Amino acid sequence: MNPTSTAPLAAVPVAGLPPTFQWGVATSAYQIEGAAFEDGRTASIWDTFSRTPGAVVGGDNGDVACDHYHRMPQDVALIKSLGVDSYRFSVSWPRVQPGGRGPANPAGLDFYDRLVDELLANGIDPWVTLYHWDLPQELEDAGGWPVRDTAYRFADYASLVFSRLEDRVQTFTTLNEPWCSAWLGYQVGVHAPGRQNFDDALFAVHHLLLGHGLATQAMRSLETRPHTYGITLNMGTADPASDSSEDREAARRADGMGLRIYLDPLRYGRYPADMVDELAARGSAFPVRDGDLEIISTPFDVLGVNFYFGQNFAGTDEQGNTHDAAGEPVVRAVLPDGARTAMDWPITPSRFTQLLLRLHNDYPGLPLVVTENGAAFPDQPDESGFVADGDRTEYLSSHIAAVADARAQGADVRGYFAWSLLDNFEWAEGYAKRFGIVHVDYETQARTPKQSALWFRDTIARTRSGQ
Ligand code: FCB
Repeated sequence: MNPTSTAPLAAVPVAGLPPTFQWGVATSAYQIEGAAFEDGRTASIWDTFSRTPGAVVGGDNGDVACDHYHRMPQDVALIKSLGVDSYRFSVSWPRVQPGGRGPANPAGLDFYDRLVDELLANGIDPWVTLYHWDLPQELEDAGGWPVRDTAYRFADYASLVFSRLEDRVQTFTTLNEPWCSAWLGYQVGVHAPGRQNFDDALFAVHHLLLGHGLATQAMRSLETRPHTYGITLNMGTADPASDSSEDREAARRADGMGLRIYLDPLRYGRYPADMVDELAARGSAFPVRDGDLEIISTPFDVLGVNFYFGQNFAGTDEQGNTHDAAGEPVVRAVLPDGARTAMDWPITPSRFTQLLLRLHNDYPGLPLVVTENGAAFPDQPDESGFVADGDRTEYLSSHIAAVADARAQGADVRGYFAWSLLDNFEWAEGYAKRFGIVHVDYETQARTPKQSALWFRDTIARTRSGQ
């Protein structure tokens, strides 16, 4: 910890979480590692996309990022200083399997091997995410996630990572936020690979889910001891902007495309009927083959929940039209009133409780772990590099309190990972938006825990001691 960090901590106690609650911090490979072309790593879709003029704020890319690849032992010491139980990181597919096919690259796997050993030596539990958006470019060139073969390639890659790490890693999650991979990557086009086609996105959803199921089955078939398998979804709440029937329909559609088209097949082995009908009405369908839904609904042990904010939805545009130019029903997000983060995301902790309870009620029997929650704010470091981020501290404390609230009402939430350990490459926002609880000076790569990190450390210690 920074000895000059004397700013008062926001005294927001978080009550009601048990001493056994699992605390962690999260990152992902492309956002922190750098060393983009070292030791045999090949390009991912993010290396390509970030070099596309205009795609990323400031023309930034992840070539260096937080240089974590070269600073890993110091970063693990930093994680240890926070007193967390677990560290969630992702494995870079093109580092481990250059080009996305064929044998493993030993040097790539060695890095994660060393990271796992370093974590374990420091008493930190490694929580692996296999895919946090860095698809090997060659697989995108062959069609990407809209193509069925990519799901099989993913299971193959998962097996390579699993075989090397399963003796020491307990938890393997397959995908991070398939909604973002599919819709932001293939329909909206603001994330890699930057394509804009509705049916490509729909096909990507199905093949991502298929890849999850195939990878889970492949890992189970290889295991020499029991593991915890999971998937992480980004979810919010979709409330109607008013009680009108148009707004209620818009909220139903937003919830269907945002949450149910993932969780219904994963848990119940079927796509939601209302969404299937509406897709058919516009001439679209998930590319389901016999047996796919059995694979997708392979049992898993934990659902990772990434929550940032909840939204309302209106079924009319600003002119009052209920259908867009293409004749599709309007589904317009209307952000709740109140404070916003630097991403312009609303701050809605009570909706976090609402989401966790809804998951508990609609998808019962599935343990939940918050795998990401956090916020970007316009940080102002002092001369020593310390950031007195009362805003982020308040965001974290109100959202952790929301978790405690959901637990008190029966939701089976077992852990909470703050996003993020470090300021890092925030995708299309480049380095302009800072989500870290630890400040990174990108010139010197100096890491300085912010006030929020100190508060998080103290909260964990208090909870552990039952206070
Ligand atoms: C999530 C991503 C994560 C980070 C946060 C702010 O959607 O999983 O990598 O960018 O948003």
